[in-house]
Parts: sequence; C-alpha cells; structure tokens
Amino acid sequence: MYKIVKKQELTTNIYLMEVEAKRVAKSCEPGQFVIVRVDSEGERIPLTICDYNREAGTVTIVFQTVGAGTKLMAVLEEGDALHDFVGPLGCPSEFVKEDIEELKNKKILFVAGGVGAAPVYPQVKWLHERGVAADVIVGSKTKDLLILEKEMEAVAGNLYVTTDDGSYGRSGMVTQTIKDLIAEGNQYDVCVAIGPMIMMKFVCLLTKELNLPTIVSLNPIMVDGTGMCGACRVTVGGKVKFACVDGPEFDGHAVNFDEAMRRQAMYKTEEGRAILEVEEGDTHHGGCGVCH
Ligand code: NAD
Ligand code: FES
Repeated sequence: MYKIVKKQELTTNIYLMEVEAKRVAKSCEPGQFVIVRVDSEGERIPLTICDYNREAGTVTIVFQTVGAGTKLMAVLEEGDALHDFVGPLGCPSEFVKEDIEELKNKKILFVAGGVGAAPVYPQVKWLHERGVAADVIVGSKTKDLLILEKEMEAVAGNLYVTTDDGSYGRSGMVTQTIKDLIAEGNQYDVCVAIGPMIMMKFVCLLTKELNLPTIVSLNPIMVDGTGMCGACRVTVGGKVKFACVDGPEFDGHAVNFDEAMRRQAMYKTEEGRAILEVEEGDTHHGGCGVCH
C-alpha cells in the first residue's frame, strides 16, 4: 500500500497528492508516469509524475476527476493509501541524457495546457536545478483553472500565463502567445508541448510553420502500461508506436493527431474497440500475443 502524505485541491476537480513510494521516487525521471489503482478491483489510472523527492521517498501526482476511477481517488485523504503505484513507466525526457553545457546553450520553450502543467513542471525544475533557464507558457481556460503558477514561476526562466477568456495574464490560447513571443523577437531551438491532444495538434501545426522542432507527450488511453494491450497505440512518422513504452514523448511534427484523437474516442466503447480491431489487424494489440 502507498500512503498519501499530502492532498490538496488545486482547483475545482484537480487534485495534487504526494504519495510515499520509495522505489519509484528513487529511480523516476522527468517525463515518466505511473499507473495507480485505488483498490484491488480498481481502474488502472495512468498519471504523469509531477514531482519527486528522493530523500523523502515520495512522488507527487496531479489528477483531474474525469471518470469513476479518479472520482474514487479524489475522496481519499491524507493518511489513506493507494493499492497500487506502479512505475516509473515510459521513457524519460530526451534532454535528461543530453550534455548539460549544450543544453545551457539551447533556448527551450515549454508549452503547458491545463493539467499539462503537471508533467511540464518536473522537466522545467530538472533543467533549473542544472542551471538551464527555460521559458514556459502556461495556458488555462480561465483564471480559476490555472494550476502550479507559483511553482512554475520559481523554476522558469520567463513564465507567460495566458487564459482563453483573458481573465488573467495574456489573453487567448497558448498558440497566440507562441506567435506573440516570436513576433516580439524571441527565438527558440526546441519546443516541448504538453496538454490536451487538440492543443498539441495546433501547437505542432504552428511550430511546423515556424520551423521549430517540437516534442509532445502523448496520453492516449492506457491499460497495462507495458506495451502488451495495444490501448495506447499511436502512429508516429507512419509507424505504429505504443505510447507507454515507446513514449510518452514523441516528435510532435510526426504524430498523427487526428488518428490519435479518433482512436481515443473509439476505444471507450466495445463497438469502437471492435471496429478498431478490424481496422488495425495484427497491430491492434501490443506484445502479449495471448489476447485471444
Ligand atoms: P483545457 O481544455 O483547459 O486546455 C488547456 C489549454 O490548451 C487552453 O487554455 C488553451 O490555451 C490550449 N488549447 C486548447 N485547445 C486548443 C486549440 N484548439 N488550439 C490551441 N490551444 C489550445 O485543458 P484541460 O481541461 O486541462 O485538459 C484536459 C486534457 O488534457 C485531458 O484530456 C487530459 O487527458 C489531458 N492531459 C494531457 C497530459 C499529457 O501528458 N499530454 C497531461 C495531463 C492532462
Ligand atoms: Fe500501452 Fe497497453 S497501455 S500497450
């Protein structure tokens, strides 16, 4: 069991939990995720790691109550425990392996949309701790839905907050702020965009025009998180990939977002899964080979 040592409602329906998970805390890196279960019968919930403390042996996760599993999770309080906390899963962000001195010469722009601020935070923090100052755009629908602003401010080179309705910070979607920053004379070597699929699609359409290489972190439906079930199948550069083991980060300009979004919607129903199985043939399932 994995004890919840801190719980905080960041805003309506978005919660932060710090969980005692020594082994995950010891080895996780920015960009990776965990799969959580509230009880032994519970739904498997994939969540990106928002922060970790190796000394304390804790991992911080942020989640939005979108379905039954996350609603059950939201009623847990400090002192309660999660049944499963599996991870770290997926590949760490590419820059973790890069030379720090080279990274210091790179201008990196992070774009976080809504709850996507949670996975962006550990990446910016990791860079900040090594003397790399990255610019960050955080977008939310409205001021009340903005999360992790103070935390991000403490680690970002420059932080640009934008709200769709103009209730706080700049006005408009994150893509508008990207255009504004470029028009103001800023130049970037790489962009990292994490948020809803539709946001990542439009950020990538824009950065392709701007000739700005862009990394995205995909969060399709996941079940096992180990490349077996095929739920998280995406097409990148015309090739089938499984986000849980090949990602979750990919070259955004090579991702087929329209297919990923259609698949995400279809995978939710039995009928949709049956259609996908016919359409996708041998690549519908991942690597277990025993589904049938
Ligand atoms: P949201 O719908 O409030 O959008 C956040 C921001 O994204 C907006 O403020 C806007 O600036 C930008 N955006 C949205 N649509 C856009 C468009 N068409 N063009 C340009 N910019 C656009 O975000 P939310 O409600 O927090 O999103 C929840 C979704 O994010 C869920 O589906 C969740 O699964 C996903 N999510 C993804 C990740 C990930 O790792 N990729 C992590 C956490 C959550
Ligand atoms: Fe990736 Fe099952 S979640 S293959």
